[in-house]
Amino acid sequence: METIYDILKAEHRQVSDLIQQAMRDGSKETFYKVKAKTDPHLQGEEKLFYPLLKEKEDLGELVNHAYEEHNEIKSISSELENMDPGSSDWTSKIKELDQTVSHHVDEEENKVFPAAQKVLSEDKAQQIAQQYLDFEKSFKQQHPMP
Ligand SMILES: [Fe+2]
Ligand SMILES: [Fe+2]
Repeated sequence: METIYDILKAEHRQVSDLIQQAMRDGSKETFYKVKAKTDPHLQGEEKLFYPLLKEKEDLGELVNHAYEEHNEIKSISSELENMDPGSSDWTSKIKELDQTVSHHVDEEENKVFPAAQKVLSEDKAQQIAQQYLDFEKSFKQQHPMP
């Protein structure tokens, strides 16, 4: 059975592919595809995954840092939402999104997930996976993209 790490990692690849595509085509439509993948991912992690780690004393700092990076990603994304695609500001902002997301993904996959695997059982990791997929489904219904 799939664990939460399998799902999050697969989504990281999808988000990064979409950002590469958005940098190539410079379209708002592709940006909204990025946003449609990223928003539920960030919310799902914050609602179902990180709270379990925050309970563990020595992971508090790692969790707080991840939340800061999430906030940075959300703020760049909302700036892009209000920008005209094709402008030079747009191009540099989407590059900033790419770098910020890549950095965060790197930290999750190389620091957060290995630390989580030490404190959460395999059963728990499978259980959160199911909860995460359910959450994502209802999130997408409640937040349709333009
Ligand atoms: Fe993630
Ligand atoms: Fe994250």
